[in-house]
Amino acid sequence: IKKEGNEMKKGPIGIFDSGVGGLTVLSEIKKQLPNENFIYLGDTKNFPYGNKSKEQIIEFAIQNTKKLIELGAKIIVIACGTATSQAIDILKEKFDLPIIGIIEPTVEYIKKQSVERIGVIATEGTIRSGAWERTLKEQIENIEVINKACPMLATIAEEGRATSEEGRAVIKEYMEPFKRNRIDKIILGCTHYPIYEGLIRAELGYPVELINTGIAVSKELEQYLKENNLFNSEEKQEDLIYLTKPEEEFKIIAKNLLDFDVKIRQITWHIRFLWI
Ligand code: DGL
Repeated sequence: IKKEGNEMKKGPIGIFDSGVGGLTVLSEIKKQLPNENFIYLGDTKNFPYGNKSKEQIIEFAIQNTKKLIELGAKIIVIACGTATSQAIDILKEKFDLPIIGIIEPTVEYIKKQSVERIGVIATEGTIRSGAWERTLKEQIENIEVINKACPMLATIAEEGRATSEEGRAVIKEYMEPFKRNRIDKIILGCTHYPIYEGLIRAELGYPVELINTGIAVSKELEQYLKENNLFNSEEKQEDLIYLTKPEEEFKIIAKNLLDFDVKIRQITWHIRFLWI
C-alpha cells in the first residue's frame, strides 16, 4: 500500500538489527532528527546474524522489512552491517520504499578525508562478503583495507557482558593486527561495536579514529528526508521497540547503552516493549 503526502510524512522511520546493536545507530539518528518517529525492530529470535549464511540473512532482512512496512514505516534503515553487506541489493529490488544501509553512507563520509589505509572490524559474515572492502576500493583510489573478523563481539555485547573479563580478552585478541601495525582509522563495521569504543582505545593505546557508522547514516537519512520533503510535520509520537523474542537483558542493555553512548536524558525517550 502506498501512502501519499501527509500520511506518508507522519510515518515513522523503521530501523532493524539482529538485536541491541542497531540502537547505536538509532541514538545517532535521534540526535540528528529529534522530531522524527521511530520504530525499531530487534530480530532477537534470529540473533546472531554474523555466523549465518547469506540466504538466511536475506530471509531475515525481508521479514524485518515487511514487518516494519506493516507497522507504517516511511523509510527503512538497515542498522546492521551483516544485513547491509548481504541483503541491501535484494531489499532495494524487492521493496518500493527508500532503504538506507550502513556501508555506503560511511564510505561516502570516509571519502571526504584523505585516507590511505583503513581497518575494518565486523562479523564473520560481513568480512566474508567483502562488501566494505569492495565499496571502499570502488570509491577511494589505492586505499589499503585491513579486515578483521571479530566473531564473539556482538554476542558478548548482546548478553550485556561487553566490559567483562571475556569482553576485554577478545578485544585484546582482535586488536592484535592493529597493535602490530598502527592504523589511524578503524571502521566499526558492526553496529554492536560502538559499545566497545572505550575498550578498543585503551587496548590500542594510541590515537585512532573509530568510525561509528550511525553518524554517517543519520546525515544521509536527514539529506534524503529533506530532498524528498518527508520530514515529520506533526507532533512527535512515542518511539517503539519491537523484539522478535523477549530478551530480558535488552532493556538493561538499552539503558546502559544510551547512557554510555548518547548521553541524552532518558525521560525524552520512552521505550515500550512489544513481543511479536
Ligand atoms: N549488529 C549486527 C551487525 O552490524 C549484527 C551482529 C550479529 O547479529 O552477529 O553486523
